[in-house]
Amino acid sequence: MGERVEVGAGIGVLARDEGIASPRNLPTLRFLTCGSVDDGKSTLIGRLLYDQQLILDDQLAALERDSKKHGTVGKDIDFALLVDGLEAEREQGITIDVAYRAFSTARRSFIVADTPGHEQYTRNMATGASNCDLAILLVDARKGLLAQTHRHAAIVSLLGIRHVVLAVNKFDLVDYDQAVFDKIVAEFGVFAAKLGFVTLQPIPISARFGENISDKSDRTPWYLGPPLIDYLETIEVEEDLSGRPFRMPVQAVNRPHLDFRGFCGTIASGTIRPGDPVTVAVSGRASHVARIVTADGDLPSAGAGDAVTLTLADEIDVGRGDILVTPQARPEVVDQFAATLIWMSDETLLPGRSYLMKIGTRSLPVSVTSVKYRLDVTSLGELPAKSLALNEVGCCNLAATAPIALDPYKENRTTGAFILIDRYTNATVAAGLIAYGLRRATNVHVQDLTITREARARLKHQTPTVLWFTGLSGSGKSTIANLLETQLHSRGVHTILLDGDNIRHGLNKDLSFTEADRVENIRRIGEVAKLMTDAGLIVLCAFISPFAADRRMVRELVHEGEFVEIFVDTPLEDCIARDSKGLYKKALAGEIKNFTGIDQVYEPPEKPELILGRGATPAQSAAQVITYLLAHQHIERFDDSGDWSI
Ligand code: ADX
Repeated sequence: MGERVEVGAGIGVLARDEGIASPRNLPTLRFLTCGSVDDGKSTLIGRLLYDQQLILDDQLAALERDSKKHGTVGKDIDFALLVDGLEAEREQGITIDVAYRAFSTARRSFIVADTPGHEQYTRNMATGASNCDLAILLVDARKGLLAQTHRHAAIVSLLGIRHVVLAVNKFDLVDYDQAVFDKIVAEFGVFAAKLGFVTLQPIPISARFGENISDKSDRTPWYLGPPLIDYLETIEVEEDLSGRPFRMPVQAVNRPHLDFRGFCGTIASGTIRPGDPVTVAVSGRASHVARIVTADGDLPSAGAGDAVTLTLADEIDVGRGDILVTPQARPEVVDQFAATLIWMSDETLLPGRSYLMKIGTRSLPVSVTSVKYRLDVTSLGELPAKSLALNEVGCCNLAATAPIALDPYKENRTTGAFILIDRYTNATVAAGLIAYGLRRATNVHVQDLTITREARARLKHQTPTVLWFTGLSGSGKSTIANLLETQLHSRGVHTILLDGDNIRHGLNKDLSFTEADRVENIRRIGEVAKLMTDAGLIVLCAFISPFAADRRMVRELVHEGEFVEIFVDTPLEDCIARDSKGLYKKALAGEIKNFTGIDQVYEPPEKPELILGRGATPAQSAAQVITYLLAHQHIERFDDSGDWSI
């Protein structure tokens, strides 16, 4: 993810890993503003920059001009236009989720995680907030606390931000009335009591008129606290990441020549010195730090936040995605874990579906094995849930396809945080915070069997394979698969045919046709098909399997090269015309819901190994598959003498 820092009002760009030098070596405060555009988020950021004279003269001139033209605030400057203008700039060609604006006052440097107001706010917050010290929660004085104020506060708390400013904005519109302030503050106090904030400072402001921003306003004599900038300049938020156990996710291996092998990354926590022991978290391989290399020469020590290159005393296997850790406090290594998910996709979470998890510098497929509960963001209670919809927050169990090293998010905001990516659209669908590793997986060990899958297959003179027929209902999958099995059987090939309608009478009779149940349907069939390949069989699977992600999951589940995706490409019109089971008629009449091709999507395979249908007869289609199996040596040629030969 590209993230950049805009210094002042859009001057200069820095990569996040370069770190931000605070001009006079003052402690930098990283904060984020939460609230929708309507609450005055843009206006507040614009006002902060303006008050600190960080807006260039030409920008100011343009702003005055634009404010007259488009502004919504009479003759005054509309600061929202400034920030929104920068956003428009930012949207041109640069792919970023969060921009960091840096500015400083005489006393302190600041970095504001700024996120486009029109995007889904949870995504912005989750991405922007994970390295912030403080959150400014914006509330419109006229509207008071809204559901989203609760949600923002809950997410801020989950993300581990312990300092909150409740900025009650637009006070000019409520005549600077103390009663309004007191009521909002009292209500929020009750709610926030459960969220574990260390400090909570309510401030009545008017971002538009600059009241209680840089100076104390005379309009609110009843407010005894500091103005916003004062407060931000003085609050102490020091979190000593350097004192925590050492963690460095390896971003790249630097090998300019044979004598140098360095591991580059940003230290997430802890401190390291040459000579210190380090371990590769997942593999457990151990060595010592030889040198800490930077562009400015070697360092005697480095700590959290430093981007460095480490060289090790021994030639051990380390690659991108590994984490170098201290052997004294190693992270958990598990393939199942519990986590809080902040769901940020329009598509609901589907348990069983394979998503790509990005944790640190590592990416691997995971699936949600169960949703334990959903968080009611207003009462902070737990609600029963089977899935999560847009903006919902829930606690889930997840399973990864390989062991991963992780820390609870509470202990480490880097090695405990991850995102989930939809493998079909590449969109980020969730932010995740690790709660704890689940021991179960590590206690259940795979048993070595004396008769191996290879031995079983050899006895049958075949290479086990999954022939996965996918296509619309009525496309001819079952007919072709059935004919093919007959022919294979007569050639002495050992097969099994798993068919949608049949499996749904037994193993999967508890499943319906909702998206979630179809995912589970395919997941179970995938596991069964895998067992059958272990038995040495050629497994014919005939399922609509409408979702590409789930077919891919099965492909990844079985052994490499043992999955043949066969698209039975019969157009929907032909399936409807055929309607051998009379189901399309019912679906079109609205009597059957979630019918593939009618009111639920079918995602055609992008790169199937074989495409059938398209006018071919079932016999021709079956012959095509046999040709493929012979060509790829999944089955042996069977001649009339009864001998096997390739
Ligand atoms: S899948 O989508 O989960 O792979 P599967 O192949 O197991 O579906 O089952 C599909 C069969 O169930 C269809 O051939 C059809 O006979 C029947 N069926 C009943 N309702 C539906 C529905 N809503 N959508 C699709 N098929 C349905």
